[in-house]
Amino acid sequence: MKNIVLIGFMGCGKTSVGKALATETKAQLVDTDEAIVNAEEKSINQIFAESGEKGFREIETTILRGIGNLSGNGLIISTGGGIVTTPENIPLLKKAGTVVWLRVKPETVIRRLAGDTTRPLLAGDNPEEKVRDLMEKRKDMYAQAADEVIDVDSLSIDDIVKKVLQFRSK
Ligand code: S3P
Repeated sequence: MKNIVLIGFMGCGKTSVGKALATETKAQLVDTDEAIVNAEEKSINQIFAESGEKGFREIETTILRGIGNLSGNGLIISTGGGIVTTPENIPLLKKAGTVVWLRVKPETVIRRLAGDTTRPLLAGDNPEEKVRDLMEKRKDMYAQAADEVIDVDSLSIDDIVKKVLQFRSK
């Protein structure tokens, strides 16, 4: 069984959908952000503060390379929203499995992440503008990495899980 790789902007539901998919399929879930936090023994905020986005991206690519080499079959892999911004990650994502883009509108992200303090790239003034800017910059990168796309704004976690499983059985 091919692995499923979930990509998409912060707040699109990758982590929740990944967990639900893993439960539903009894597959192992691998989350790149979680793997980074465990490997570094630091929070994402701490890594950004100490090493900047560049340092974080280097660790992210190392982790993704390791995941690509995992022998497990039918894994569910959820990723950080910016993983597509490192060009060398695109072939690594594709190698890791069927890449599913959970596409989300900026308004949905803004609503879901209001008050969130765990995303360093949205910290500070005007997070709404940051969401729109980042999303605009990244949309072609998500499209390039994706094998399949799901528009998630009006879907429940269960709806999304069903759609992903249809791709897997294709
Ligand atoms: C990031 C998204 C985050 C995390 C880091 C950077 C991004 O993951 O990897 O804060 O650049 O979009 P989520 O998409 O799980 O929030």
